[in-house]
Amino acid sequence: MNVRRQLTPAEPLMRRIESASELDTPGKALGKKVRGAITPGPFKDAVSGTWLGHAVHPMLTDVVIGSFLGATLLDVFGGDRRGRASQRLIVVGILAYPPTALTGINDWADTEIAYEDVRRTGLVHAATNALALTLYGASLGARRRGAHGAGAALGALGAATLMAGGYLGGHLTLNQGVGPDRTVFDPGPPDWTPAADGSQLPEGRPTRVVVGDTPVLLLREGELVFAIHDRCSHRGCSLSDGSVEGDEIVCACHGSRFDRRTGALKRGPATEAQPAFQVRRRDDMIEVRLLSPD
Ligand code: FES
Repeated sequence: MNVRRQLTPAEPLMRRIESASELDTPGKALGKKVRGAITPGPFKDAVSGTWLGHAVHPMLTDVVIGSFLGATLLDVFGGDRRGRASQRLIVVGILAYPPTALTGINDWADTEIAYEDVRRTGLVHAATNALALTLYGASLGARRRGAHGAGAALGALGAATLMAGGYLGGHLTLNQGVGPDRTVFDPGPPDWTPAADGSQLPEGRPTRVVVGDTPVLLLREGELVFAIHDRCSHRGCSLSDGSVEGDEIVCACHGSRFDRRTGALKRGPATEAQPAFQVRRRDDMIEVRLLSPD
C-alpha cells in the first residue's frame, strides 16, 4: 500500500520556493557580497548578536512588525481623528527596517553558502518584507496627502505581505534551523565516558572523536588534553577543521573563536560558547565528561 503523508496547506508552496534553483545565481552573488562586506570583527559581532547570546534579528523584527501592524490595527479599530498615531507608527516601522534587514541578511549570508533551501527561502523572505515596506511607505505617502482610505488599504495589503514574510522567517529558523545553537540537543556525556587512546593523539593539532553521539574536539599539549564540543554552535561546522591560535580554537567557516580550555566565546559571529569537557586519563584512555557551565 502506498501511504502518503498529508501536506500542510503551506507545504507545497514552501517546497516550490526551496527548489527554485533560478534564485541561486543572484543569491550566491548577494551572499558573497555580504560576507565580503561584513567580515569577522566588532561590527559583525554587533549585528550577529555575539554580545547578546543569540541573534539580534528576531528582536528587531518585533519593532518593525509591531509598528506596522499597530498602524493597521488603529485603522481598523479607530485611532485619533486625523490618523496621526498611525502615521507615526509607520514612520517607526520604516526607521527600524534598515537595521532589521541588515541583521537578517548577515545571518542569512553565513548560512546560504552551505544550504540551497536556506538561500532560496531567505531571498523570498527578504523580497516579501521589502514589498511590505514599500506598501507601508506608499500608505504613509497617501495618508500625508489626505487620502486616508487609500492609505489604510495600502496598509492592509502591507500587513498581509508582512505576515507572509513572517511565516517565511519562521520557516527559516524553526524548520530550516538558521540560528539555534547547534550543540543544544547533544551537549555531551554528563558522566565519565571513554573518548580516545591518548597515545594516538597528535601534539597541538585538533582531533575529532565521537563520544556517545557527540562529536568532541581533543587537543593535546604535552601532558595536557583539552576537550570541547566539536560542532560549532554557530552553523555547525567541525571545529577540528579550524586552527589553534594561542589559547583559541578558530572555526574555519566564519572565524568564531573559542577558548580551548573552557569553550568560552571569544569572537563571533557565534553567539554561544561551546560545551567543554573535563578530561582524565585511565592508563592510555582519555575520558571526558561535560563541564558544568558554572
Ligand atoms: S560555523 Fe560559523 S563560525 Fe563556526
